[in-house]
Amino acid sequence: MRTYFFILCSVLSATTFAQDLEALKRDTRQKVLPLLPKVSGMMQETVATQGVMAAIPVCKEKAPQLIKEHADQTGWSIRRVSLKARNAERSTPDSWEVRQLADFNIRAAAGEPLETLEHGEVVNDKGVSVYRYIRAIPVGSVCLSCHGATESLAPNLRAELIKNYPHDRATGYAAGQIRGGLTVKRPL
Ligand code: HEC
Repeated sequence: MRTYFFILCSVLSATTFAQDLEALKRDTRQKVLPLLPKVSGMMQETVATQGVMAAIPVCKEKAPQLIKEHADQTGWSIRRVSLKARNAERSTPDSWEVRQLADFNIRAAAGEPLETLEHGEVVNDKGVSVYRYIRAIPVGSVCLSCHGATESLAPNLRAELIKNYPHDRATGYAAGQIRGGLTVKRPL
């Protein structure tokens, strides 16, 4: 009888845990995912109306600013990371993020749609349990004017990028690849 009780309890707590995880994921998505269409919409509009040079600040200042606003509102850590960062100081992934981004590339190659690639789990972060979530940031055609093949970039833009980012690794992308991830770490 006692054994059954323990089994029942652990099944119930595993179920509750799975439900909690689903709720955490939903809540995280709801708070941070609107950032992605906001930034790419802003990028599209700025490139179309003011040209590519004028759109540099969208990725360089507007996106980080919006992310910071969301981080301040939620109290979570929110970042953009990439396996090939342009701004390494800001966007170098940690080992968990590297693993997830590598996994996204594998999942994308296996045919999963880029727009919904995500992963969330509870991890031990220096002795503290935290919820981590990461969502793929796909490369759309508007991104190519600054993240496409180096030789395809406008010369003045290329010069500007080299000046600001001498160690730039964020070129050579094609549409339909994964530029990086939007990543969240929230306390439990
Ligand atoms: C007008 C040029 C330009 C365009 C177009 C552009 N980016 Fe960027 N991108 C940049 C610059 C400059 C940075 C470096 C930002 C910084 O200093 O943090 C950057 C950085 C990023 C980063 C952070 C990781 C890193 O490499 O430092 C991501 C993610 C990113 N861009 C995604 C995109 C996506 C997705 C698109 C298309 C919707 C796009 N970018 C279009 C110029 C551009």
